[in-house]
Amino acid sequence: MFSSSSQIGSSIPTKLICPVCSASHLPLKDSLANGVYACTCQNCGHFFKFKALENVRTKASFKVNGKEFTVGNEFSTSTTLNTFLRSKGISKGTKGMCYEGGCGVCLVTVTLYAPLSLKQMHYTINSCLLELFSCDGMDITTIEGLGDPKHGLHPIQEQLAKHDGAQCGYCSPSQVMNMYGLLKTNPKPRVQDIEDHFDTTVCRCTGYRSILDAMKTFSIDAPPHLEKVQMDIEDLDTKLCKKTGKLCTGHCHNNIGAHANKGSDNQTPGPVHIVGASAQWLKPTSMDQLLSLLKQHSQDNYRLVFGNTGFGKETKVV
Ligand code: FES
Ligand code: FES
Repeated sequence: MFSSSSQIGSSIPTKLICPVCSASHLPLKDSLANGVYACTCQNCGHFFKFKALENVRTKASFKVNGKEFTVGNEFSTSTTLNTFLRSKGISKGTKGMCYEGGCGVCLVTVTLYAPLSLKQMHYTINSCLLELFSCDGMDITTIEGLGDPKHGLHPIQEQLAKHDGAQCGYCSPSQVMNMYGLLKTNPKPRVQDIEDHFDTTVCRCTGYRSILDAMKTFSIDAPPHLEKVQMDIEDLDTKLCKKTGKLCTGHCHNNIGAHANKGSDNQTPGPVHIVGASAQWLKPTSMDQLLSLLKQHSQDNYRLVFGNTGFGKETKVV
């Protein structure tokens, strides 16, 4: 959730009130660090500090292919995961084209804890729609986390290649991530499940039959002309280096490989408040905090963000 104004006093303060003259100020981009707000009153010149009542974090943390990343207001509140992955060179295999959730070439898989049940959930998501700060606490897997020709292909990549499911290859990482996400949630899909699941990524080259043939080899009722692939759920994830986030080369002294998308151990470590140049990002972690923020911002221009699918193609706030 992000907004542009509010008042102090809740567990996530979003507006500063001068204790001398009571003038209110919005926090500036650099005025918040580790839950401490520092401000010089623009009305009376008094310098004052406030400490947040809760341990509010001013950065969002998440993992990509097992490697930890921490991001703050060096990015705008509207930066997407796709922009982050591609501009930082973290995942060139994750593509971008329409940037509005239409073409599906930007798919990645995320693992997160459902806020109420605290159960681990897996989703395949459009990285062009997911805002970067929404990734707080997520464990993200991109195509680089599954396999490559140098260190060995993932079984899904192998099947796609074997069935000529890639021509120009632009959509191929997404087709693989889509299947990976399906197998994470449903390790024994039927042919119909796969057909229903593959209306996501546009392929301009193959005509889809070869892609579907490749994916149907993972189904429990694959047609006789396809050779079934028996896969254990444990084999879905390949070994990744905890240090580099890249595929394990086996060169380290200790076996430090970890499984891709094994799951985040980052279970809602506390609320987040990121002050951007023209907007604030707030992540409440309890219903009380959410209701308190909604009350504070009832007169303000705010929006609630989860998947961002409704807003993704509209003009973005920066
Ligand atoms: S770039 Fe087209 S759906 Fe994300
Ligand atoms: S293989 Fe070219 S877009 Fe799918």
